[in-house]
Amino acid sequence: MTDSWWKKSVVYQIYPRSFADADGDGMGDLRGVIDHLDHLAELGVDVLWLSPVYPSPQDDNGYDISDYQDIEPLFGTLEIFDELLAGAHARNMKIIMDLVVNHSSDEHRWFQESRSSTDNPKRDWYWWRPARPGMEPGAPGAEPTNWGSVFGGPSWEYDEKTGEYYLHLFSKKQPDLNWENPEVRQAVYAMMRWWLDRGVDGFRMDVINMISKDVSLPDGRLTAGSVYADGSASFIGGPRLHEFLQEMHREVFEGRDGLLTVGEMPGVTVNEAVLHTDPQRHEVDMVFQFDHVWVDRGPDPWLLVPLQLTALKAILGRWQAGLADVGWNSLYWNNHDQPRVVSRYGDDSPAHRSASAKMLGTVLHLHRGTPYVYQGEELGMTNYPFGGIDEFRDIEALGQYRQAVELEGRTPEEVLTVLRARGRDNARTPMQWDDSPHGGFTTGTPWLPVNPNHAEINAKAQRADPDSVFHYYRRLIELRRTEPAVADGDFTMLLPHDERVYAFTRRLGSTELLVIGNFSGVEAHAAIDGWDGAELLLTNLEPPAGGLCLAPWQAVVYRRSV
Ligand code: GLC
Repeated sequence: MTDSWWKKSVVYQIYPRSFADADGDGMGDLRGVIDHLDHLAELGVDVLWLSPVYPSPQDDNGYDISDYQDIEPLFGTLEIFDELLAGAHARNMKIIMDLVVNHSSDEHRWFQESRSSTDNPKRDWYWWRPARPGMEPGAPGAEPTNWGSVFGGPSWEYDEKTGEYYLHLFSKKQPDLNWENPEVRQAVYAMMRWWLDRGVDGFRMDVINMISKDVSLPDGRLTAGSVYADGSASFIGGPRLHEFLQEMHREVFEGRDGLLTVGEMPGVTVNEAVLHTDPQRHEVDMVFQFDHVWVDRGPDPWLLVPLQLTALKAILGRWQAGLADVGWNSLYWNNHDQPRVVSRYGDDSPAHRSASAKMLGTVLHLHRGTPYVYQGEELGMTNYPFGGIDEFRDIEALGQYRQAVELEGRTPEEVLTVLRARGRDNARTPMQWDDSPHGGFTTGTPWLPVNPNHAEINAKAQRADPDSVFHYYRRLIELRRTEPAVADGDFTMLLPHDERVYAFTRRLGSTELLVIGNFSGVEAHAAIDGWDGAELLLTNLEPPAGGLCLAPWQAVVYRRSV
C-alpha cells in the first residue's frame, strides 16, 4: 500500500483562465498563478489542482484539449509551467493536473487523422458509427442513438467526408476517445508518465467514469418533454471501468510515491466508490461524487428546488458511513462547474455572507475526507448578478438554453432563473484580488466581468482583517494539521431530522470533536447533551453564551476527552 499523505491534506483548485492575468490580455495565465503562490501558501493548502492548461480551442474553456503535452499559449509555455511547479514545490505545495481523456478536442491531430478516412489507422480511436439502419445519413433523427449531449443537442455529429457519425457526450468539439482500443490507452498512459516525469504530483481525472461504454450503444429512455434521451446507463460506470483504472494504475502509477489521484465521477454510487478507492484494488485515491450538489435538483431541470437540510445530511452521512472502513471521501462544495456555495446553501446578503461562508467551510472541512477549496471560496465569493443570456459565456449554459427555449418550449425567464442560480459561469468570474476596477485580476478587459461586489469582497481586504473568511479558512486548514481527529477520527452524524442544525462528532482514541452548523438565518438550539465544559476550538461568531444555542449561520467546534 502506498502512503496516504493526502488524508491530512487540503487541495486548492485553480481555474487558470479566471485566477490572475499577468500579461493584460484579460485572460488568466500561469505567470499570474506564480505571482499569487504566496496567497496560497499563507492559506496553508497542500496541493494545487490546475484546471486544464493545455493547448485548446477553448470551446469548453480548455476541457477540449488539442495537444496533451504542451501549454496553451494564452496561459504560457512549458518553461513557465516548470517555473510554477518549482515555485509550488519550494513552498511545500504539490500540483496535480487535470486529465481530460474521455474525449479530446476535434482539433487534436488524433481526431484529425481519425476523421480523414474510414481506413485511417486512427479511425477506431474514436466512436464512429453509420446512420440508424434504413435512414438517410445526416437526416434528422438518423443519429446512431437517441442520446442527448450534456451541452444540448444530439450526442452524435454527422461527418460528411466519410458519411458516418462520431460520438460526443459533451460538445461536438469534444469527440469521445475509444478506450476499447488498446493503442488509445497506451497513448494516454505514456502522456501521463511524461507529466509525472516532469515532476507533477498526480491527476484530477475528468469524467473518468464515462470512459468505458456499452459497445452495443443502445438507445436511451426518452422522458416526457425532452427531445433527446439520457444515455448515461450505457456510459456511467461502464463494463470495463474498473479494469481500465487498474491498468492505468499499473502502467502509470505503480512504483511512484507521493502522488494523488482523484476521479471525477458524476452518478457514482457509494458501493462503486468503495471499489474505486479501496487501496488494495489500485484504482484511484478518491472520487468526486455528485449527490450532495444534485440535492437541490428535481426531476424537472428547469425548476429550482430549495435545499432541504435533512436530505443533504442523509446524503453526506451515507457517503461518510459507506467509506468509513474502506476507501476515502473527497469533500467539496465548489468547483468550476458549481455555483458559489455561499449563494447556494448559505446566505450571500451582506448581513450573513461572511458568517454563512465560514459555517459552510467548517461543516465541510471537518467531515472525514480530503477537502477541496475552489478559488475565491476562501473569500466567500458569491454568484454573479447575471441578466440576460447574452451575459453568459459557458457552452453548457448557452447550449442548454437553446435546446430548452427553441426545442422544448420553455420560456426564457424560467430557464434564466435556473442559470442565474446554478450556471457554471458563477464560479468562473475572475478572482477578486483587490478593490481596483477589475478586482486586480487584469489590467485589460476581463474575458468575463468581475463581480461588482469585489469592492467589498477581495483578498487584499481579507488578508488585512483577522475576522475575514480568508483567515477563518486558514485556521480551519491549520486545525487539520494540529488536531489528528480531523483527518483520522471516526464520523457520527447527529440530529438527522433537524432541518436547521447540521451536527456530527469525530472521534479518535480519547479525543472527541463536536461540530455544529446552523444552516438558517434564525437562532437554533442543538439538542445535544453532555458537552458542558468542553473546550471551544473554533467558532465564526461570538461564542454561545450557554447551552448549544447558535446564532444565525453560526458554526461551533468543541473538543473533549472521553
Ligand atoms: C467535467 C468538467 C467540466 C467539463 C466536462 C467535459 O465535468 O469538470 O467542466 O465541461 O467534464 O470535459
